[in-house]
Amino acid sequence: MTQACDIGLMGLAVMGQNLVLNMEDHGYRVAVYNRTKSKTDEFLAQPQAGGRQIVGVDTLESLAAQLKRPRKVMLMIKSGDAVPAFSDQLYPELSPTDAVIEQLLAVLESGDVIIDGGNTHFRDTERRTRLVESKGLLYVGTGVSGGEEGARFGPSMMPGGSGDAWPLVKELFQAIAAKVGPAEDIPCCEWVGPRGAGHYVKMVHNGIEYGDMQLICEAYLMLQHAVGLTNDEIYDVFATWNQGELQSYLIEITRDIFSVRDPEGDGDLIDQILDAAGAKGTGKWMSQLALDLGVPSTLVTTAVYARSLSAHKEARQRASQLLVGPDQVPAQIETVDREAWIEAIRQALYASKICSYAQGFVQLQAAAREYDWPLNYGDCALLWRGGCIIRAQFLDRIKEAFDAENDLENLLLFPYFTDVVHQAQPSWRKVVSAATQRGLPVPAFSAALSYYDSYRAERLPANLLQAQRDYFGAHTYKRTDREGTFHTDWIRKRREPG
Ligand code: 6PG
Repeated sequence: MTQACDIGLMGLAVMGQNLVLNMEDHGYRVAVYNRTKSKTDEFLAQPQAGGRQIVGVDTLESLAAQLKRPRKVMLMIKSGDAVPAFSDQLYPELSPTDAVIEQLLAVLESGDVIIDGGNTHFRDTERRTRLVESKGLLYVGTGVSGGEEGARFGPSMMPGGSGDAWPLVKELFQAIAAKVGPAEDIPCCEWVGPRGAGHYVKMVHNGIEYGDMQLICEAYLMLQHAVGLTNDEIYDVFATWNQGELQSYLIEITRDIFSVRDPEGDGDLIDQILDAAGAKGTGKWMSQLALDLGVPSTLVTTAVYARSLSAHKEARQRASQLLVGPDQVPAQIETVDREAWIEAIRQALYASKICSYAQGFVQLQAAAREYDWPLNYGDCALLWRGGCIIRAQFLDRIKEAFDAENDLENLLLFPYFTDVVHQAQPSWRKVVSAATQRGLPVPAFSAALSYYDSYRAERLPANLLQAQRDYFGAHTYKRTDREGTFHTDWIRKRREPG
């Protein structure tokens, strides 16, 4: 009789395959299933899968039969868009994940665990957790970050769902996750919270990823067009930045990108890549949900729009022939100040990045209140410390901030971050003004600075906005000097025009 498997994994695309190998590396016996059987056969025939404790199955019944009880089955299949709560009538066809869950419910039994490791909309995970629990099984929706390499050698994992499932999957999840800390023994995987909490945290991770990437692109634009650096010089700048407080995976890969020559011709590959960005949608989800919650996650939203505008390449080409920028200012900054400008751009990038993370955590806090999740924000920072795309040295500081005060209202108020933005402020303003004067678009740097200025403003012009609303719609307003709600008949009280 063959030995039973510790876990089953469905979906043998790149992420699924690498997770299987990672699990097996850690001594787990894995049963694998793919809808297209040939994919399973191809995977098992690869040299890297040979001689391992991996068992291919071709039906869900045999998958269930292979697994130790309580069974654990992890889905690594394409999630698709969120299915709204009212979907039953409007979307008669189940999404691929819903269809697979239906099939699994037929072959699994009470106490078994279904795990979704895709980039799933948290609302789907909320709904699926309730559905699966109502059938007596347990459900886990886990964020898995780090791409192919992460999946293979240690991803960041953000699990949420049925609390009773955590003790059943904890050991395996923490074994395969990335490790950080001086002894590299702290796993970047901790229980996030109930139902869709894990997938929400993963979505915020992705939204922050969008913000980081856009900010780095704007730094590149400034280095190239304002300071006038070559690609090799930009490589050196990112290499230097990666030694300091900006040290992160995204800065590191950006550095590397500037060293790659074009395999199809002369020059650098970066210069041959079409400037039209793609997106799979998690950044958009975060923006949509920020709007629903009424929290200003302006960095991710700006980053999503920046991608959209970049994708309108032909429209931009037409507009570039018709709309002019400033002609008084030389496009390039005086070269005597090169080093000072590079440092100013670095500081603008760091300060903007801090605003972006501050917004992400404010959104997480608002979501936790709205959906009743007891989130630990220091843990969230730790989950992102290694393995994932936004892994960065400064997440240690964020962890410290939330470990000191889990209810910290805004990261900008934590002394370390307050000091950084205070010190960066002159450079940050200089960079945004220089870009604006030269007609170089830096929407994320500007959005971050506007957020900073709005957030620190005791008084904003919203008094006028309230007056306008009350004028045309009797929407009422509050006063600064007394309690209550007021309405004014503005037309009767106004000065007659002319
Ligand atoms: C990760 C990434 C990943 C995401 C890609 C592509 O954490 O490993 O966030 O999950 O799918 O980065 O995202 P976009 O296509 O939306 O840029």
